[in-house]
Amino acid sequence: MAQEADEPTIQAATWRDFRHVLLLERACFEGDAWPWVDILAALTFPETVPLKAVRAGRIVGFVIGDRRRREGLGWIASIGVHPDVRRRGLARRLLRACEVSLGTPRIRLTLRASNTAALQLYQSSGYIDAGRWSRYYRDGEDAILMEKTL
Ligand SMILES: CC(C)(COP(=O)(O)OP(=O)(O)OC[C@H]1O[C@@H](n2cnc3c(N)ncnc32)[C@H](O)[C@@H]1OP(=O)(O)O)[C@@H](O)C(=O)NCCC(=O)NCCS
Repeated sequence: MAQEADEPTIQAATWRDFRHVLLLERACFEGDAWPWVDILAALTFPETVPLKAVRAGRIVGFVIGDRRRREGLGWIASIGVHPDVRRRGLARRLLRACEVSLGTPRIRLTLRASNTAALQLYQSSGYIDAGRWSRYYRDGEDAILMEKTL
């Protein structure tokens, strides 16, 4: 029972969550973190799907989806889980909830080539390799492009 009460719940995030999502994004991504204005846009634009994971009133995870309706394509633009609650299946739950909310037949995402945690998460969630963007990140690292067909 206690474990169930501890289980984070996944909910829609709004502009009211701005400060907490921003802090978590910075904690998860450091140098790759989005500028605050992009986070605010993601929490307010109609074609984005921002979700938060809440445990004991605290945001411990988030995911931001982006819908390109005309292309039938959704993007997982960002996903992060607080270090204290990692490896408990939360990213997988957030990812799945975002895919469902996006409602597009195809979902894409990119990740750093060296991000093995994310790579294993996406591979085990049904994403396959769809290309490579050379020197995509500021420090010159390549991005891996992955895609899932629902
Ligand atoms: C990547 C991240 C979101 C994973 O969050 P999480 O809640 O710990 O992930 P989950 O518990 O749902 O893990 C699901 C699967 O992903 C893989 N995985 C997650 N973390 C891993 C790690 N550190 N090493 C290897 N595989 C890992 C495993 O296959 C795992 O399944 P398993 O636990 O049954 O083996 C989290 O580590 C994070 O926030 N990292 C920093 C931000 C980031 O890199 N985001 C992705 C950008 S593309």
